[in-house]
Amino acid sequence: MKKIYLLMTVCFLSCKTQKTIAPTGLVAEKAMVVSAREEASQIGTDIMKQGGNAFDAMIATELALAVAYPYAGNIGGGGFMVYRKASGEIGSLDYREKAPLASTKDMFLDEKGNVISGKSTETALAVGIPGTIAGIFEVHKKFGTLPIETLLKLVIELAERGVIITENQEKQFSNFRNELMKANGEKSLVSKAYKENDTIRYLALAETLKRISKNGKDEFYKGETARKLVDYLNKKGGIITMEDLAKYEAKWRAPITFNYKNLKIISMSPPSSGGVCLGQIMTMIAPFDLKKFGHNSLESIQVITEAERRSYADRSYHLGDPDFVKVPVKSLLDEKYLKERMQDFSFEKATKSADVSKGTISVYESDETTHYSIVDPFGNAVSATTTLNGAFGSKLYCEELGFFLNNEMDDFSSKPGFANSYGLVGAEANSIAPEKRMLSSMTPTIVEKDGKLSMVVGTPGGSTIITSVLQTILNVYEFDMSIQTAVNAPRFHHQWLPDEVIFEPNSFSSTLLNDLKRKGYIINEGNTPIIGKVDAILVLPDGKLEGGADRRGDDKAVGF
Ligand code: GLY
Repeated sequence: MKKIYLLMTVCFLSCKTQKTIAPTGLVAEKAMVVSAREEASQIGTDIMKQGGNAFDAMIATELALAVAYPYAGNIGGGGFMVYRKASGEIGSLDYREKAPLASTKDMFLDEKGNVISGKSTETALAVGIPGTIAGIFEVHKKFGTLPIETLLKLVIELAERGVIITENQEKQFSNFRNELMKANGEKSLVSKAYKENDTIRYLALAETLKRISKNGKDEFYKGETARKLVDYLNKKGGIITMEDLAKYEAKWRAPITFNYKNLKIISMSPPSSGGVCLGQIMTMIAPFDLKKFGHNSLESIQVITEAERRSYADRSYHLGDPDFVKVPVKSLLDEKYLKERMQDFSFEKATKSADVSKGTISVYESDETTHYSIVDPFGNAVSATTTLNGAFGSKLYCEELGFFLNNEMDDFSSKPGFANSYGLVGAEANSIAPEKRMLSSMTPTIVEKDGKLSMVVGTPGGSTIITSVLQTILNVYEFDMSIQTAVNAPRFHHQWLPDEVIFEPNSFSSTLLNDLKRKGYIINEGNTPIIGKVDAILVLPDGKLEGGADRRGDDKAVGF
C-alpha cells in the first residue's frame, strides 16, 4: 500500500512538472530538416535517408539554399554552425566572412570623416571574403561520412532542373529589381521580372558547383573559380585578391554555454554576439516568474525588454572579433554582474536607454539571413545560420559563376557611434581591420534539457535574431507551447538603441501597448513587420521530432 502511494506521488509530481504539449507542427520518427525552402529541407533529408549524418545533411542543405533561396542562401557569403553530437560532444564552426588585406579602418568615410552612404552596402568594397565553401569542407573533413560528390549531386541537379518561384520570392525579386538591374544590367538572370510559378534554372551555378565537387575547396579559393571571382570584383572596383581567398580559413570555436533553470543552452561565440547576448538576457530574466506573468503579458514584456536593453548596450561596446580584440565573455556572462545590471529595473517605469550606457548610438545587422536546423537518425544535431547580409547581399551577381556576393563589410562599425544600415551602433571593438571578422548577431542554438538534446533553433532577422531565438525558447519552456506554435507566436524586440520597442503589427492588443506607453516605453508597430523567421526542431518526450517552420516565410519541415 505504502509502495502504491509512493508511486502515485511520484507520478503526480512528474506529471505536474512534465506537462505534455500536443505537437502542432510536422512530427517525424527519426530525422528532420527545417529550412527556408522545401527543396533544401528535402535534399538534406534525402541525404540522411541515404545514410548520411546531420553534418552531411548540413553541407547539402547549405548549398541547396544557395540555389533555392538566393535572397540569403549563398556560396558568396558566410555563417556559423553549432553542433551537438549524440555522445553529448558540442562545438561550433565560424565560417564568417573576413575583411580583405587591403581594407582600412576609414574605407567607408569621406575626407571629413563622414560615412559615405551606400559605400559599405552597395559597392564591391562591401564584399567580405566569402567563408561558406571553406565552412562546408571543414565540416566534411571533421564529420562527413558520404563523399562530397554524393552531397553535391542533388544540389547540382536542383540548379539544373530549376527552382519554382513562390509568391514570396516573386516579391523579393520585384522589391529589389531596380537595385539588381543597377548592379548587374538589364540582361542579367537576376534582373528579370519573375512571376510566381516561373522556373529559374541556375546553370552557371551548377557548373561552379560541379567544379567544386571535383576539385574541392581549392577550386573556390585558389582555382578557376577564384580567378574568375577576383577578375569580376576588380572590374567592379573591389579589392579582394587571390591572396585574400587563399588565406581564408573557417575556424572551430568553443561555443558559449550557460544554464537557464534545468536547461543548458549552447550557442555561438564571438565574432557573433548571439550566444553572449542570449546568455546575458536569459540570466537577467531568470529570477523573474515569467510563467506566472504569462506569455506576452505586460510584466513579461517589461522584464524581457529591460534585459535586452542592458545586453544590447554591452554588445555595442564590448563585442568584436576575438582574434583581434579582447572580448570579456566571462565578465559579461557573470551572474553577479548581470544581477547588478538589473538592479535599477522597476515595473513602474521604463528605463531610458540613455541612462543605461555612455554610448551615443548602436549597430544593426541585416535581416536577410537564413537558418536551418537538423537532427539525424543517430541523434546528432546541427544548428546553422548563414547570410549574404542584405537582401541578395551587395546585389552583385557574378553571371559567369552564378552567385551573389555578400555586403557583410557593413556589419563592421564604419565609424564608432554611427548606426549601420540596421540601426545598430558599434564601437572600436568592431572597427575594420585587414583579415578581421565583422560582428554578427547570428544565434544558431541548441538546448539540452536534463542533459539530453531538446531543441535546435535559430533564425534570420539581423539584430532581432537574438530576441527571436530567446522568445522561441521561452515560449516552449516557460509558456508550454508546442514548437510550431512557439515559432508562430507574435514577437517583439528591443535593442537599446533606438530607444523603442518593436512589435509585430496587429499582433498585440491596444490596451497592452497603451499600458506600456503609460510606463514610458516608446512603441513602434510600423518598421519591422517581420521579426525573425525561426526554423526549429523539438525533441518530444517519446523521442520523436516536431518541426517548427516559421509561418512568416516559405519555410518547411521535412522528415522521416
Ligand atoms: N549580417 C547579419 C549578421 O551577421 O548578423
